[in-house]
Amino acid sequence: MSFRIAFVTSELTPLAKTGGLADVSGALTRYLHGRGHDVRVFLPLYAKIDRSALDLIPVEFLQRVPIDLGGRTFSFSAYATKLPGSDFGLYLIHCPQLFDRPSLYTNDPDEHLRFLLLQRAALECCQGMGWSPQVVHCNDWQTGMIPLFLRTLYRWDRLFEHTRTVLTIHNIGYQGNFPAGIADELGIEERSFLHQDDLRHGMISFLKTGILYADYLTTVSPTYAREIQTKDFGMGLEDMLRHRADHLVGILNGVDYREWDPQTDSLLPHPYSADDLSGKLENKKELLRGLGLPEGNRVPVIGLVSRLTEQKGLEILREPLPHLLRRRDFRLVVLGSGEKEWEEYFHALQRNFPAKVVFHSGFNNRLAHLIEAGADMFLMPSRYEPCGLNQMYSLRYGTVPIVRKTGGLADTVQLYDPEAGDGNGFVFDHYNAEAVVWAMTAALDVYQDQEAWTKLMRSGMALDYSWDKQGAEYENLYAKLTGVPVS
Ligand code: ADP
Ligand code: GLC
Repeated sequence: MSFRIAFVTSELTPLAKTGGLADVSGALTRYLHGRGHDVRVFLPLYAKIDRSALDLIPVEFLQRVPIDLGGRTFSFSAYATKLPGSDFGLYLIHCPQLFDRPSLYTNDPDEHLRFLLLQRAALECCQGMGWSPQVVHCNDWQTGMIPLFLRTLYRWDRLFEHTRTVLTIHNIGYQGNFPAGIADELGIEERSFLHQDDLRHGMISFLKTGILYADYLTTVSPTYAREIQTKDFGMGLEDMLRHRADHLVGILNGVDYREWDPQTDSLLPHPYSADDLSGKLENKKELLRGLGLPEGNRVPVIGLVSRLTEQKGLEILREPLPHLLRRRDFRLVVLGSGEKEWEEYFHALQRNFPAKVVFHSGFNNRLAHLIEAGADMFLMPSRYEPCGLNQMYSLRYGTVPIVRKTGGLADTVQLYDPEAGDGNGFVFDHYNAEAVVWAMTAALDVYQDQEAWTKLMRSGMALDYSWDKQGAEYENLYAKLTGVPVS
């Protein structure tokens, strides 16, 4: 049997991306569509989306649909479109008043309205199309209210009578917490459904509401599923998650190897494979040349591509990096944007080590691919990491990951054992400077042994984290929820 799945998301590769949610939304829905399911994706038509290359078809009955949010009426129009290379149904929600902003996410006072509109519009689209989803798959706080809306606002509609909800938590660090004053804008009369203690404390949390009401909760790796049930990682939601533990599962993200494989990556000047690694060296030269760094003979390059936020563990690099750069010969290439503190830190590092460090501030997909291909090592010292995609990309690109043992990093990278020759990266446990320096030094040391290093690269390249393996777990979950077996 195939399922009708409404997939509601705030990011989708290649149209709207700030991080891994975009890649996962794109690849998982493509996988599900490929398996014959009727997947329909709902995404805001952000101002940032380049419309020139898209064929936008207005959906009949879904033009200028009014939505009342706390006495103010917004109207949206839905446009159907197809992404190049994939033909699942994609519906873009056009509401310029809310989505014509310079970035996907904002700190504007109406941020809650922006994503309330997305959630309401997704459900109204199902109604307008007369399409009854068996599963509404929600992602992160931006879609966390949908399970409650289905139990309240839309309960009257038999279209949703058998609809089940899944909420995937990609990152518990973002909860969508708003002042209780927004309660009227939710449009639900039954206040008793809201988290009463939060209301008393003057707050409404979209993610928490989703955790309360979704039929099933998933997160993006088995280790993170365990971690978020503890005080250290749960960010205040651990008790609630423990309470729902029998409806919570960790499903590791997959990789879309159509986008991220050095053999076929169209963004690389020099494709390569495990059998012929010569292109990797050419990419490395190109990377260094392009960034104005001296090439050097077999000098290792460490890459880091990341949102520059506390989550990514930059704190433990702060003090040791300058020492390490003085002591050891390596190049550091950093691509990222985010918190001002970290932008300044990496700018200063580049100023202090102009022949060794390059910091490229901003979002640049092509450069991200070139770093994956041209670097020798990839650094992810995350404080926490729900899954992480870059370590999996790195493995496929023969770029040995140096990671902290947390969340999805712990599930995908195994410590290299020089004696036995197994493992595929450098993994450290403790969240401190000594531990990350240990791992980086170990990697730099092994790099000197060309034969061992090449073997290590190849063992990572042979791993398979494709959605073909991971996607079936979502199908099984939908089957369990709906009582309809997967064909
Ligand atoms: P997160 O979602 O927490 O940011 P992931 O590892 O899951 O972490 O995914 C990050 C994704 O975003 C990867 O595809 C990575 O290449 C990409 N990315 C992050 N920062 C940048 C950037 N500055 N430029 C281009 N791509 C980036
Ligand atoms: C989040 C997490 C990241 C994960 C991504 C996709 O942004 O920080 O670890 O890979 O979502 O699930």
